[in-house]
Amino acid sequence: MKDGKLVTLAIESSCDETSAAIVLEGRQVLSNIIASQIKVHQVFGGVVPEIASRHHLDNVNRVVDEAMKEAGLQMGDVDMIGVTYGPGLVGALLIGLATAKAYALAAGKPLIGVHHIQGHICANYIAHPDLEPPFMALVVSGGHTNIVEVTDYNQCRVLGQTRDDAAGEAYDKVARVLGLGYPGGPKIDKIAKEGNPAAVEFKRVFLEKDSLDFSFSGIKTGVLNYVNSRKQAGCEINTADVAASFQQAVLDVIAAKTIGAALKMKKDKIVMAGGVASNSRLRAMMEEGCKKEGLALYCPPPVLCTDNAAMIGCAAYYKYQAGERDELTLDAVPHLPL
Ligand code: KG4
Ligand code: ZN
Repeated sequence: MKDGKLVTLAIESSCDETSAAIVLEGRQVLSNIIASQIKVHQVFGGVVPEIASRHHLDNVNRVVDEAMKEAGLQMGDVDMIGVTYGPGLVGALLIGLATAKAYALAAGKPLIGVHHIQGHICANYIAHPDLEPPFMALVVSGGHTNIVEVTDYNQCRVLGQTRDDAAGEAYDKVARVLGLGYPGGPKIDKIAKEGNPAAVEFKRVFLEKDSLDFSFSGIKTGVLNYVNSRKQAGCEINTADVAASFQQAVLDVIAAKTIGAALKMKKDKIVMAGGVASNSRLRAMMEEGCKKEGLALYCPPPVLCTDNAAMIGCAAYYKYQAGERDELTLDAVPHLPL
C-alpha cells in the first residue's frame, strides 16, 4: 500500500517489448519502464521469436528494478503482481510470467494473469481518469484487430476480429513491399501524409453484410501486385501515393465497422487501443466519424497504445478487485481467447 492505495507491480513481455510498471489504485502510473527490442529485430524485418525471448531474459530483472526505483517503492509495498499470460509469443510470455511468479512466491504476493488485449483496452482508463464502461472498443495492433463490446471492467465480448492478418501486420508487410523498413506502421503513417489517398483504388473488404470481422490479406496482395506490375511496365512508383491509398482502404473499413458496431449496440463511447491506434489518420477519421454520430471518442497517448506494463497493471487491479487470483501453476497461453 502507498498512501492507502493498492500498489500493482506489472510485467509485460508478450512480443518485443520488455516492460515493468508500478500502478496505484489501477489508474495512477508511478513508473512504466519499456525496453524496446525494435532495433534488434529491424535487421530481420520483423520480430524473431527466439531472439525476443533471449532479450526479455536479459532485460526483465533490470526493468523491474528500474520500475521499483522510479516509483520509490520496495517489494514490501506491493499488493499484487500482474502479468500478461497470453496471447503472444510463447517463449516471450514465459519470461515475464516466470519472473512474475518468482516475485510473487518470494514476496508472498498474489499473482494475477492478464489477457494482453484486456490490457490494451485498460490503457484508456489510465489516460482518461473519468472513463467507465460500458463502451465499444477497437483494438488494432500488430497481432490483433478486434471490435470488443466492453460491458464492465472484467466483462467483454468480441463482436468482430480479423480472419487473417492483423491491421498492424498488414501495415508492416506493405511497408516492407514499399521498402520502408520495420516497423512499418509509423513509417506509412508519416509518408502517407505526403500522398494522395485516392491515387490507387484498393478494394475495401467488408465481408458479409453486417459482419464485424476483417480481412486484410487481400489488400496486402493488392499492393504487392500493383508494385510488381508497375515495376514490370518500367513505371515509377509513387511510394507516398501507394502508402496513402493502402492506408485509406484499410482505415475506411476499420472506422466504418467500429462506428457501426457502437451504433448497433447502442454505445455512446468508443475507445481505441493497440499500436495502430496511434495512427494519425485513423484518429482523425474516428474523430470526424464520432462527431458526426454524436459519439465520444477516447484514445490513449502513443506510449500507452503500444505494448507497456502500465496497462497490464490497470487490468490486474480490476481483476483483483473482483476477487480474482491465480495459482503459481498459471501457464502461458499463446492463443488465449478473450
Ligand atoms: O500494440 P503493439 O505495440 O504490439 C502488439 O500487441 O502487436 O502494436 C505494434 C503494431 C505494429 O504492427 C506497428 O507497425 C503498429 O502497431 N503501429 C502503427 C503505428 N504505430 C505503431 N501502425 C500504424 N500507424 C502508426 N502510427
Ligand atoms: Zn499489444
